[in-house]
Formats: sequence, structure tokens, C-alpha cells
Amino acid sequence: MQHLLTGFEFSQDEYLSILETAAAMKKDPAAFADTLKGSACAIMFEKPSLRTRTTFEIALYRLGAHGVYLDLQSGDLGKRESIPDYARNLSRWTDCLIGRVFSQHTLEELAATGSVPVINALSDLYHPAQAMADYMTLKEHLGEIKGKSLAYLGDGNNVANSLLVAGAILGVNVTCFCPLGHGPEIQIFNRAQEIAKKNGCHLDVVADPSRIVGFDALYTDTWVSMGDNTPLEKVKQIFLPYQINDTLVAQSGAKVVLHCLPAHRGYEITDEVMDGPLSAVFDEAENRLHIHMALLAKLVHKRG
Ligand code: CP
Ligand code: NVA
Repeated sequence: MQHLLTGFEFSQDEYLSILETAAAMKKDPAAFADTLKGSACAIMFEKPSLRTRTTFEIALYRLGAHGVYLDLQSGDLGKRESIPDYARNLSRWTDCLIGRVFSQHTLEELAATGSVPVINALSDLYHPAQAMADYMTLKEHLGEIKGKSLAYLGDGNNVANSLLVAGAILGVNVTCFCPLGHGPEIQIFNRAQEIAKKNGCHLDVVADPSRIVGFDALYTDTWVSMGDNTPLEKVKQIFLPYQINDTLVAQSGAKVVLHCLPAHRGYEITDEVMDGPLSAVFDEAENRLHIHMALLAKLVHKRG
């Protein structure tokens, strides 16, 4: 049994195979209609979601499985009953636990105490399924992604961490341009850098935005993540030099611009870029569905 908790679990071959399966599922979803017939998964979200929840539910439906949504936004997970008891109950009825949680530790505990695969649908540290959809989108727009260069701009958050992990495994050069004190998690970065070295690519963290030159793709995300109540206005001045706008896109030489969404237009990205010719943000959102189908087909054991 395999989990997807961090993104470090899979080899390069496994990543490539997920991307390939997702592309096949995108082309002909009907061919996979019975893949998980009769299976059921719990979808447990402690935070809001548009894309992730919708695409996991539709992915399960398209594979012939059923998704049971458990609304945990009032903070019930681990409060009404313990996380291990949650996992033990759900493991008796379902074939996979999909969790969006405040703490990565919650997912680790579900995986350690349950007996079905656990999929990380976003935590404080990682957003691994997002990164897979991101690299699938880059592949569609750039052709080969090995050896290509991606600049991530803004807050070194869960999305940045996962882009580093998946990029290192897939052989993509990833540079995070973040203000000092807002870089990605150092332990995750170091672990990913070891993998990158073996795969012939390079990861970097840079504060100076004038060095955003010569990149194939640009990526940004919110400056304030869910769970942090800091008003955007309060951090605007620190992050504004990292805003993806027309001037920065021209300076970078990038051919494609990504954003995991939701976007805060006028903050981390301008309307001109979001709605401009290089934006692939809605392809990226679409690909969440295809990647989730491929992931579920790989990880969930078919009933009966
Ligand atoms: N990108 C993403 O995870 O979006 P949601 O928060 O809407 O799921
Ligand atoms: N970094 C963002 C991603 C949202 C999809 C957050 O955690 O809120």
C-alpha cells in the first residue's frame, strides 16, 4: 500500500507514469469508467476548496467509485474523536482517505493508524497533487520538461515546497524567488536538492527579483495561505516586487505562466497576465481532474 503524503514517495518513473496515465484519461475518460467500480473514498477537508474537492469528487465518479465528503471545517478532526479512531473507522468502510488539513502531522497519523491509502489534498507543508497537475500542464505547453526552468515567485509555502519536490524528481530546474524570511521550508528544500543533484537539475532560492531572467515558466501563489489571518494589505509592500505583471513576464522570457488558484488579482498576479496569452492557469485547473483520476487509479485498491 502506498500513500501520497509529501510527494517524496514516488520515483521519477512513477511520476512519469502518473503524468502519462493522466494524459490518457484526459483524452478518453470513458475508457477508465470501471477502474474503481464499487470503491469508496472519504474526502476530509479542514479548509475551504473549489478545485481540489470538486476534482477529487468528479475523478472518483469517472472511475466508477464514490466519494463521501466529510466537512471538517469546524475543526472536528481529532476533537470529537481521536485521529487514530477516525482512521480506524473510515478504513472499515472506505478504500482511501483524501485529506486537506492544517497540520501535516494529521495526515501522517491517519496513515500510521488507518489501513487504507492516504492522499494529501493540501497541508501546511505540501500540496503534492497540485504539483503533479502543474508539471502535466508545463509538459503540455513546453513539450519535454526535463532540463526546463521554472521560477516560483512569492511566498515559499506548501505549493512552493511541492514544486521543488516534484521538480527535483522530474529533473526540472526550480528557482524560488522569495523575500528574505519567506523562503521554502529548508529541510524539504535540502532533501529535494539531493534528489535534484542525482537527476541532473538544480534548485535555488533567491531574494533578488532582478534575477528573474531566462526562465521557461513562471509560477505564483497567494502571499498569505489558508490558516494565516494576516491581511494581504499588510504584506503587500514586501511581496510586490515579486508580482507577476507584464514587465516581469517580459524580463523573464517565460513562455507560460501558472498559478494554482485561487488568485488575488492585482496582488501576486495582474489581470493582464492572468487573462493574457501566456496564462495556462485554467488548463492547470482542468488538469487537477485528470491527475486525480490517475493518482486514485494508482493508489486505491479496487473492491471485489
Ligand atoms: N489550487 C487549489 O488547491 O485550489 P482549491 O483551494 O480551490 O482546492
Ligand atoms: N498556499 C495556498 C494554496 C491554496 C491552493 C494555501 O495553502 O492557502
